[in-house]
Order: sequence, then structure tokens, then C-alpha cells
Amino acid sequence: MSVAVVVVAAGTGERLGAGLPKALVTLGDRTILDWSVRAFDRHPGIDTLVVVGPAAATGALVAGLPATARVVAGGPTRQDSVNRGLAALPSEVEFVLVHDAARPLVPASVISAVLAALTAGADAVIPVLPVIDTIKRVDAEQRVTGTVDRSELRRVQTPQGFRLAVLLEAHQARPGGDVTDDAGLIEYLGHPVLTVPGDESAFKITTPHDLRLAELLAGDTA
Ligand code: CTP
Ligand code: MG
Repeated sequence: MSVAVVVVAAGTGERLGAGLPKALVTLGDRTILDWSVRAFDRHPGIDTLVVVGPAAATGALVAGLPATARVVAGGPTRQDSVNRGLAALPSEVEFVLVHDAARPLVPASVISAVLAALTAGADAVIPVLPVIDTIKRVDAEQRVTGTVDRSELRRVQTPQGFRLAVLLEAHQARPGGDVTDDAGLIEYLGHPVLTVPGDESAFKITTPHDLRLAELLAGDTA
């Protein structure tokens, strides 16, 4: 079985507001992207690594990456960036993991769980966590109109794993609406999507608060 990972790192990081692409921001002793790449580079069973980087920074990106990594430039949306990463995969790839570079502390256990589900026959697998806060629905005036039953809600993380042929079919179908993750495309086609347990450490660095939290955790891990 041939397994590839596509690490999407082409976002600008508006909400972090660091003044440079989020993937190139320093976390501990290296960049956020380096942390993400290393998590997969050292993981058994992954043969191919593709990094989708910000077009302007591709040279700086390549400097710190393993020699075997391929680097391609991203597009305007995350979905465009994933597409460009998929297009760079060798034809023999059977399974692909799509990972947000912005989740640099993803533990090996989550990667293993996704790979195990694919090996066991799933076409699409996502790591998820329960929703812990109470969730309210509000109207346009911000008045509460109801409480959502959170027992059936999940927070979705990456890496998301797919049989490559299924993900390519889903990307070609490209629904018009707002699909924020790759599994959403698979759902649109009516294919089943399996969940496996995620991990709080795989959280996404979105805001300066998240980066501070990651700095604390990276100190424990380094
Ligand atoms: N991403 C990408 N190409 C894009 C947009 C996002 O490769 N055009 C990647 C980001 O680099 C990130 C992941 O998708 O690793 C998740 O996106 P997000 O956390 O939203 O990152 P940014 O888009 O960079 O942040 P923001 O939305 O705050 O600008
Ligand atoms: Mg974004």
C-alpha cells in the first residue's frame, strides 16, 4: 500500500496576524511547518510527502524540508491548495492524508489511527473530538432561540485520510457551496466518512492565543 501526505501550508494566516505566512512562523526552535512535516516524515508507512506552500515563500520553505519532500505552490482557497497537492502525487499512491500545516503538534497516535482505518477498508476517515461547550442557536438580534444537542456534534481535525481515487472524484465534482474540509466533498457525493478519535494536541493554530498555547506544549515535546 502506497501512502502519501499532502501538508497544506499556503494560507496567509490573517487571524494570527504575524505579518508572514502562518506556516513560516516560529514555534519553539523551528517553524510551524517543520513541526508538521516532521510528524509525518518520521511516521512509519508514509512514502511520499508533498508540501503546498505560499507561492512567494517557496524558496524559504524548501530550505528546511527533507530532501524527499516535493513542494508546490498553493491557490487562493484551501480547496485549491489541496487540489494542487493532489495533482503532484505519483500515480501509484493509493491512500492520501491531507493535513493542515497549522496543526503542528498532531500526535503520532492520531496519524496511526487514521492509517489503520484506511488499511481496514475505509475510503474516508476523519479524526474528531466531542464538543465540550454548551452550544446555543441565536437570531439576528443575538437572542437565544435554542440549545443544540451537542451529543451528536464533533470537532473535526486533520490529518483526514482518503483512498486517493475517491478524493480525486470528489474534488472533480466540486460542489458550489462552502465546503471547508475534504471530507465534506466526500459527503456531498454520498460516500460514508468514518471517524476515529482525535487528540487535543492536534488543535489548529488560528489566533495569537493558540500560538501561545502551542509554545507551552512545544516546550514539553521538544
Ligand atoms: N491553506 C492553504 N491554502 C489556502 C488557505 C489555507 O494551504 N489558500 C492552509 C493553511 O496554510 C492552513 C490550513 O489550510 O495550514 C488551514 O487553514 P487556516 O487555519 O484557515 O489558515 P490560514 O488561511 O492561513 O489562516 P486565516 O484563515 O486566519 O488567514
Ligand atoms: Mg483560512
